[in-house]
Amino acid sequence: MEIVICKTREEASKLAAKAIIDQVKAKPKSVLGLATGSTPVLMYKELGKAVKAKKVSFREVKSWNLDEYYGLAPTHDQSYRYFMNENLFKFIDINIKNTHVLNGLAKDPVKECKAYEAAIKRAGGIDLQVLGIGSDGHIAFNEPGTSLASRTSVVYLTPSTIKDNARLFFKGKMDEVPTRALSMGVGTICEAKKIILLAFGEGKQDAVKGMVEGGVSQFCTASALQMHPDAWVYCDEAAAKKLKLKYYYAWRSATKLGL
Ligand code: F6R
Repeated sequence: MEIVICKTREEASKLAAKAIIDQVKAKPKSVLGLATGSTPVLMYKELGKAVKAKKVSFREVKSWNLDEYYGLAPTHDQSYRYFMNENLFKFIDINIKNTHVLNGLAKDPVKECKAYEAAIKRAGGIDLQVLGIGSDGHIAFNEPGTSLASRTSVVYLTPSTIKDNARLFFKGKMDEVPTRALSMGVGTICEAKKIILLAFGEGKQDAVKGMVEGGVSQFCTASALQMHPDAWVYCDEAAAKKLKLKYYYAWRSATKLGL
């Protein structure tokens, strides 16, 4: 696991965007795994700018998102499909038909999850997966206590995630946040060829510490990335504050990135 520590989230977002741009330039038919939430927004803005400046094209790219709230229609303004359309897809030249988000209204959610995994496999697997991290160390909606071998399925949100999501979205109303979601599993995520995880701000300090320097455990599902051969964490100084070896990680990753 490589840890890239930047002074600000702006700087980290630019570097993470560069990793995606490099991937798509090297393989125009890349399959991307995408995340929602507040963390990737700046990075998505950078991708929009790069497309506008004709530095990269997503015309042949296919994408699969990590998760969706169970019970929300794709048109609901808090659904993850809506989020992706508003924060990324409308700013890049991707063919919307090539973008995939789990259907929160699926009549048979188990079937929906299985079909989603099968479609990713048919596309050749995910080349680059974007992740954020929850304050409890979750990736996608894989809460503490979820098997590290889990596959795409219906999952249950913890009270702390419901609270975090109500604060950031849903206008602060806890009772409006769905308590279940459809989510890629940890095992599914770890099959991506390359992973980049973004983490910003003091609120992510404990999660980042657990992911990078804690044991590999289902109590911090992001810790599974320690076992991945090409996982990169882009964080700001605030999120990296509790890391014991932060100076070593910063030096090593800057050297590898030629910074
Ligand atoms: C989003 C997702 C979640 C978020 C995480 C952090 O698709 O899968 O795991 O990445 O909850 O959310 P933010 O970025 O809002 O702090």
